Amino acid sequence: MNIIEIIEKKKRKEALSEAEIAYFINGICDGTVADYQASALLMAICLNGMNAEETAVLTDKMAHSGDMLDISALSPTADKHSTGGVGDKTSLIVAPIAAACGVNIAKMSGRGLGHTGGTIDKLESIPGFQTELSDTAFFEQVERIGIAIVAQSKNLVPADKILYALRDVTATVNSLPLIASSIMSKKLAAGADIIELDVKTGSGAFMKTKEDAMALAKAMVNIGKANGKKTAALITDMDTPLGANIGNSLEINEVIAVLRGEGPDDLKKICLALAANIIFMAKNCTKEAAQDLAAAALANGEAYKKLKEMVAAQGGDVRFIENPALFPQTAYTIDVCAPRSGYIAEMNAEAIGMTAAMLGAGRVKKEDSIDMSAGIVLHAKTGEYVKEGTPLATLYTNRENIKTTACKQFLHALTFSDTAPQPHALIMGEVI
Ligand code: URA
Repeated sequence: MNIIEIIEKKKRKEALSEAEIAYFINGICDGTVADYQASALLMAICLNGMNAEETAVLTDKMAHSGDMLDISALSPTADKHSTGGVGDKTSLIVAPIAAACGVNIAKMSGRGLGHTGGTIDKLESIPGFQTELSDTAFFEQVERIGIAIVAQSKNLVPADKILYALRDVTATVNSLPLIASSIMSKKLAAGADIIELDVKTGSGAFMKTKEDAMALAKAMVNIGKANGKKTAALITDMDTPLGANIGNSLEINEVIAVLRGEGPDDLKKICLALAANIIFMAKNCTKEAAQDLAAAALANGEAYKKLKEMVAAQGGDVRFIENPALFPQTAYTIDVCAPRSGYIAEMNAEAIGMTAAMLGAGRVKKEDSIDMSAGIVLHAKTGEYVKEGTPLATLYTNRENIKTTACKQFLHALTFSDTAPQPHALIMGEVI
């Protein structure tokens, strides 16, 4: 067997055997398969797909490419994962709500790349917050306070680290088998018994159509269940950014607002639905009881307390949670105003995410550093009527020279119409 034959086989649209997939994954980890060969196979998979069996084998081989955490002593434990979006800070609200309801949350998160944000970057905007915990410290924190959100430890799914970096620069991210195996290998290796997935669809998601998102959700739920995990997925809208704030400390501000009983309704609704699903799977109660528990934990402040407990446990400065005005401000704030009166018919979430990255909130390349205080606050969203000249958004940046381009790019992401657009459902489907 050699890698060229395996690439040829996928080029001919044939299914790869378990031995061939194992050869590929072992080869990228020990360096016997070169990056350019791995990239060629990734492109062949992206174009010609993989069947359910190949996807399951790929996930399993990736998961076992490094450590498999054993956190069974803390059972039941839950993890949650979003396929990625713009303004998607749901994990930081869902996890404290579920933990406040007595579910152990043992969550491994990623960083943002390109137009999407990442939970780890957002947490690191809280001064002092440690995202790199040893496996033992991670375990002990979940045992002690019922919640920890950390970066993937170094030897957790090393195959995904290699493949994801290659996919990002070879236009092979949006492939169902590659996304499903990337996410589920990490979830399986991280060891939680319950996996709640938020599969995003729309202009700001990797899956642009509801059909593709549903197929991805089904594939991931099947992989989770085949591995003995309670797994469920919601398909949620990412055609418009979620909530109003985009950018790391701006999003932490919005998380705090929601956990204090304020904040935007779209964000609150999705978070409560995701948290209720986790509680439902963990407690074997009715869906209605789980929804009531989630709503109560938000309303009575217990979820807010859990966030503060987690921040303190991971070395973060809790004063910033209690008084978000302490977060550093950018040198420049720019209001972008409506160029005409009318309804906002569309807000291309990917283009808005790219604008936030241009302001400093995200990375264009993996090694880029992030400006934690940069980003966008939206004042109007899809479906709203705006008068010419009213502020649509405020852009926050420390980069003086990109102000004009960023305003133009933001406006370019919007379309206006004289009639109200059809409202989008926020939660578009469920796979259980
Ligand atoms: N998130 C991941 O972890 N992997 C993907 O491939 C896409 C989103």
